[in-house]
Amino acid sequence: MTGPDGLADDIDLDHGPELRTVAMPADTNPNGDVFGGWVLGQMDLAGAIAAGRRARGRIVTVGIEAMSFHQPVNVGDEMSCFATIVRVGHSSLRVRIDAYVRRWLTGQIAKVTEGTFTYVAIDHQGKKRPVPPADDVAAAQQSARTAEPP
Ligand SMILES: CC(C)(COP(=O)(O)OP(=O)(O)OC[C@H]1O[C@@H](n2cnc3c(N)ncnc32)[C@H](O)[C@@H]1OP(=O)(O)O)[C@@H](O)C(=O)NCCC(=O)NCCS
Repeated sequence: MTGPDGLADDIDLDHGPELRTVAMPADTNPNGDVFGGWVLGQMDLAGAIAAGRRARGRIVTVGIEAMSFHQPVNVGDEMSCFATIVRVGHSSLRVRIDAYVRRWLTGQIAKVTEGTFTYVAIDHQGKKRPVPPADDVAAAQQSARTAEPP
């Protein structure tokens, strides 16, 4: 429910896909097939959401490894990207992304891609910065949820 402070406290956004979207005709090449680059871009965005939340701020993509395309994505398919942070370094975060589609009309579900993306936490000058300890992130999130409205 949304309270008078405008904050919703009865929804759990910590589970489920980091990103869900639909492949549109504009995402295809002249043959009508969805670009691999579009899929990769959605995965990068999903990983960046997870990495940015964990790093509590600005991050950039520095590496993409172990990328595999298993099946095509077609126009109308609903694509869901799941992100799991698999390693936190000093300034870097490695995130595994698994992407699934629910096929348009048939509703069949298929795993289409997986990959590992690395992000680096950066400051306002674009220089690397340490990733804050996980406890600090959890505490900040908890205090934001329970803070008195101004
Ligand atoms: C991010 C950036 C500021 C880091 O620069 P840097 O100070 O030279 O960083 P380093 O080489 O010391 O690496 C920083 C961290 O990233 C990791 N890293 C760097 N390149 C990597 C790569 N290709 N793959 C995986 N990890 C990588 C390092 O291991 C290090 O990890 P750690 O701090 O957890 O130990 C710089 O590389 C940059 O600006 N790159 C461009 C990023 C960008 O624009 N991305 C969008 C492209 S469209």
